[in-house]
Amino acid sequence: MQIRVLGSAAGGGFPQWNCNCRNCAGFRNGTLNAQARTQSSIAISEDGEHWILINASPDIRAQLAAFPAMQPGRALRDTGINAIVLMDSQVDHTTGLLSLREGLPLDVWCTRQVHDDLSSGFPLFPMLGHWNGGLNWQSIEASEQQAFTIPCAPSIELTAIPLLSNAPPYSPRRDNPHPGDNIGLFLRDTRTGTRVLYAPGLGEPDQRLLAWMRIADVLLVDGTVWHDDEMIRQEVGTKTGQAMGHLAQSGAGGMIDVLGTMLASRKILIHINNTNPILDEDSPERAELSRHGIEVAWDGMHIDLSGPL
Ligand code: MLT
Ligand code: MN
Ligand code: ZN
Repeated sequence: MQIRVLGSAAGGGFPQWNCNCRNCAGFRNGTLNAQARTQSSIAISEDGEHWILINASPDIRAQLAAFPAMQPGRALRDTGINAIVLMDSQVDHTTGLLSLREGLPLDVWCTRQVHDDLSSGFPLFPMLGHWNGGLNWQSIEASEQQAFTIPCAPSIELTAIPLLSNAPPYSPRRDNPHPGDNIGLFLRDTRTGTRVLYAPGLGEPDQRLLAWMRIADVLLVDGTVWHDDEMIRQEVGTKTGQAMGHLAQSGAGGMIDVLGTMLASRKILIHINNTNPILDEDSPERAELSRHGIEVAWDGMHIDLSGPL
């Protein structure tokens, strides 16, 4: 299995178009040692040719342009995207579907809750039905008991784990999330046995999720905020990480503590918000992550799991 990080930032990207926080302003004026990042998405593949897009970012056009394997050119009109999996119905994970309309139909794997949101409050499914067959919904259960596979990558077994996070601001289930509003994906390469947990929106690691995290070789998990109240402290927002369904890295019981109990060979943070001090590669927070063996995903990061780790 191969994993390509297409976008490693949280909603808004980095720098965010309308933001002048320390990070965004510092990046623009060249005083911050940091890389720009597009909004959250990865792609996975068994053979390096057929890709499963996991989440469809508003930045998808630039992400595809930056990754030649996604533009194979085997026919006059062609794409490396063979299927799409959505982990929630958040704007930063779904808006890219609009930009894929020229290449429809495409199979979209998601839960009933996500399909409901994308058929009502943000009606991408009915709307895109007007473009050449639209999005073919493939229903997945948020169930730890039931793995599934996608035809273009039969050796990758996927399990959709229900996560404690939040539904999007426009959803009728905002602040009242149900199982299926957010999933984590546990991926197992049946050829090599390698196991990966991908969870960009992880509000609260409960015992069930911790058990999955413990058996993963690679953890690719929520890196949204360093301080739970960092958007409030920096006066750019009113929401805490917890209110949005994201576990902060710092503090007792935070992501650094959680990862400290894990044996995974690679611990990687993804879905980084533009306010997070870890974006500054010279920051003490970034140094603290390094001391704990925790990496920060970047756009273009490639994780090749086809051989031994
Ligand atoms: C989230 O990850 O909490 C959302 O993408 C936030 C947002 O909609 O901007
Ligand atoms: Mn997000
Ligand atoms: Zn900012």
